[in-house]
Amino acid sequence: MSKVELYYFSGTGNSLHVAKELQKRIPETNLIPMVSLINNDVVETRGETIGFVFPIHFTTVPMIVKSLISKLDLKSAKYIFAIATRQGTPCSTAFTKN
Ligand SMILES: Cc1cc2nc3c(=O)[nH]c(=O)nc-3n(C[C@H](O)[C@H](O)[C@H](O)COP(=O)(O)O)c2cc1C
Repeated sequence: MSKVELYYFSGTGNSLHVAKELQKRIPETNLIPMVSLINNDVVETRGETIGFVFPIHFTTVPMIVKSLISKLDLKSAKYIFAIATRQGTPCSTAFTKN
């Protein structure tokens, strides 16, 4: 089991860059593209630490990210974090599973 799972979504590459830089610094990190999971009904995490990296779209969390969050089974998770990249407008990045 990978200790750290980092789920990322990136349109132009900025969030992917951040995810890769994190992977270099955090041992045993598995990068998982959110787009690879869009057809899953449930996404069962396997890491103890679960991270999300994604861009802000239209001052909030992109739909694909909200969709993934709603499908997550986070039983494996002991620590969860999220990083949002953005251009600079004020944003709301609060999200909940339901
Ligand atoms: C459709 C779209 C909407 C965006 N909306 C915002 C926004 O509301 N506020 C902001 O600060 N940046 C906004 N951005 C800029 C992105 O959040 C920023 O460039 C981000 O780093 C892109 O990440 P990515 O390269 O991983 O896709 C938007 C970009 C796109 C493509």
